[in-house]
Amino acid sequence: MAKPRPPMPIPFGWFVISYADELKPGDSRAVQYFGKELVLFRTESGRPVLLDAYCPHLGAHLGYGINESSGQGGRIEGETIVCPFHAWKFDPEGYCTEVPYAKKMPPKVDGKQCLTSYPLVEDNQVIYAWYHPKGEAPKWEVESFPEANSEDWAPLKRFEWTFKTACQEMAENGADSAHFRYVHQTATFPETDLRYEDHFSNMVQRADMETPRGTIKGSITARSIGPGQGYTKFAGIADTFLMGNVTPVDEETVHVRFAFTQPKVDGQVKEGGVNAAIVKDICKQLDEDRPIWENKIYRPDPALCDGDGPIAKFRKWYSQFYAEPFTQ
Ligand code: FES
Ligand SMILES: [Fe+2]
Repeated sequence: MAKPRPPMPIPFGWFVISYADELKPGDSRAVQYFGKELVLFRTESGRPVLLDAYCPHLGAHLGYGINESSGQGGRIEGETIVCPFHAWKFDPEGYCTEVPYAKKMPPKVDGKQCLTSYPLVEDNQVIYAWYHPKGEAPKWEVESFPEANSEDWAPLKRFEWTFKTACQEMAENGADSAHFRYVHQTATFPETDLRYEDHFSNMVQRADMETPRGTIKGSITARSIGPGQGYTKFAGIADTFLMGNVTPVDEETVHVRFAFTQPKVDGQVKEGGVNAAIVKDICKQLDEDRPIWENKIYRPDPALCDGDGPIAKFRKWYSQFYAEPFTQ
């Protein structure tokens, strides 16, 4: 029997769709996010572009080129992508600019936006796309993080996962203070101060951390800017900045990217030791959560106790990111 999945629609917000350095000028490729087939490319002048993938002519996918195994999609010519099927050209706004073998532009595409183009922002070494199920314009701005834009911090250490769950289910973890003790075996229940305001959530958590050298008092600061952008800062053992980015692939699948950086010491990247141990431990937490997330159901009206974290507050805050309220 198929398991009942979390019945959640895809929220709106800014979501990471690629690392910036994984998309060079002239690159194009197919990506699947937001329940859609998309093509991601970078023009020759360096502008990143995300369009709906299927050509308005005869439906070719702009993200799969003649040499599909290279991972390369339609060819980039100047500021346009060339459809691999009959070489119609499309600009970053999704307008057809040329049909190379036609005397006249066909009226169905002439002067019309024929492919949806998603607003993109490149910052923090990643590319964010704005997704809204009704195509509404961005409602807030991407936040720039000094740690992810500074030469004094190490190059990003990257990890990724694909989970069968919904963005909201993963985000609820932060508000669920009791699970840290039982799923992640923290020494104590962390003391958590969690505040929700507009599209932001801000958390400060103090917890004992187990290290080979004994227990250390640590603090964790986490900030979310909508459902798709955020960071967590760990202080106590080794200063660590983590961009934890969750992007919906479809209603029941998420693509998670964790990118860590730590301050350089005397201009050098510190390898190994506690710096590596903390990264490993944080990634281990995700592997511990995975079987819970992938097999749980969503309880809209859960039986909560006085020791639970602010789950109801979290859910109220998160509900603002849905274009339509979901019911079950
Ligand atoms: S299908 Fe794209 S040009 Fe024909
Ligand atoms: Fe967790």
